[in-house]
Amino acid sequence: MRCTVAKEIKAEEVRRSYSIFKMSAPDVSQNFPPLKNDLILRAARGEKTEKVPVWVMRQAGRYLPEFKELRAENDFFRVCQTPSLACEVTLQPIKRFDLDAAIIFSDILVIPQAIGLQVQMVPGKGPVFDDPISMVADLDRLVKDVDVNKVLGYVFEAITLTRHKLEGKVPLIGFAGAPWTLMAYSIEGAGSTTFSKSKAWLYTQPEASHQFLQLITDVTVDYLVGQVLAGAQLLQLFESHAGILGYDLFCKYSLSYLKQIAEKVKEKLRAKSVDPVPMIVFAKGAHYALKELSQSGYDVVGIDWTVQPTLARQQVGDSVSVQGNLDPCAIYSSKDEISEYVKQMISQFGTQRYIANLGHGIYPDANPEHLGAFIDAVHRHSEEINKSS
Ligand code: CP3
Repeated sequence: MRCTVAKEIKAEEVRRSYSIFKMSAPDVSQNFPPLKNDLILRAARGEKTEKVPVWVMRQAGRYLPEFKELRAENDFFRVCQTPSLACEVTLQPIKRFDLDAAIIFSDILVIPQAIGLQVQMVPGKGPVFDDPISMVADLDRLVKDVDVNKVLGYVFEAITLTRHKLEGKVPLIGFAGAPWTLMAYSIEGAGSTTFSKSKAWLYTQPEASHQFLQLITDVTVDYLVGQVLAGAQLLQLFESHAGILGYDLFCKYSLSYLKQIAEKVKEKLRAKSVDPVPMIVFAKGAHYALKELSQSGYDVVGIDWTVQPTLARQQVGDSVSVQGNLDPCAIYSSKDEISEYVKQMISQFGTQRYIANLGHGIYPDANPEHLGAFIDAVHRHSEEINKSS
């Protein structure tokens, strides 16, 4: 078994080095199997849905024993960089649960890596940067003209492979970290409670901050376009650290770049005669800017678990869809209680223009069976509500 995996990895490394020389992006006309479940695409576009689609942030991850088993033998970024492994992990939750979307297994930190920063995933600690950005002069050592096909081609290959292996069961979501979140990690060098080093840049080095954010934005646009060309059918932007910015800093240093990304990704795809895919923005902690987010060019606004669903709907309005937002800790409740929480959540969000999810990623100590209860409750309650209305 181990030997077969090793052989596959070797073959993939050879193919990858070949594709570096070939350097052409894969394109969407790759004879993908026809899609059998387009619920999430319809909900994102504001079309009628007979039941509410559901997926879960971090659905492929450490709460699954099969993930832990695979991770025990492979470094985190090696899994990301090996298309057969990334594909296998992406499919793990799809095999277990009645989910309405898969999300490609990767990490937001592949972009800092692509611009030249070294990041390791340290067990029990999370991401650690070898040599974070500390001074403005450090920006000089970053790669300015990233060729995403060359450096991140492994993600595109994983997406194309996964589209085939999904056999059209559900759509595949591609993703990236938003510029502020990636800038914050690159300066802090790891997680932080205050993010004071990176926030200090916004106050004391506004010009350099914009320069850094623009660099990340440009690479991210090409990266997301590449994901769609490779087969991604929806895209999500993770602004995980919006919560440590207040309204003013958010508008200046986050929202403007999020807007640019949505506009440019759609524009670049149209220029290639490729239909843009729906885009989701999840700015965790940005309860103060939901209205602004709903007017930022995204089709879906992700809502974190702290916001009341009715308030979220009010702020977001009815021209975009919403996604969210059960507290990840609610999964620790009994299955019956989870079902009640879901019923309440759906009755508050309504069943249309709505994608159910947790209000942040699932935690590693969650019970997979309880996650299954969450997923099934979304389908059951939303179908009942739709039938009776
Ligand atoms: O299933 C999926 O959602 C797809 C895969 C995915 C991962 N990370 C895999 C992962 C996605 C979409 C992400 C996004 C991501 N990565 C975010 C945004 C979402 C969020 O939580 O706000 C952030 C901030 C990161 C950065 C990151 N990666 C951190 C802080 C950590 C360590 C802490 C943690 O939550 O585990 C990671 C590691 C990581 N990324 C793991 C997984 C499955 C666990 C690492 C391991 O296997 O050891």
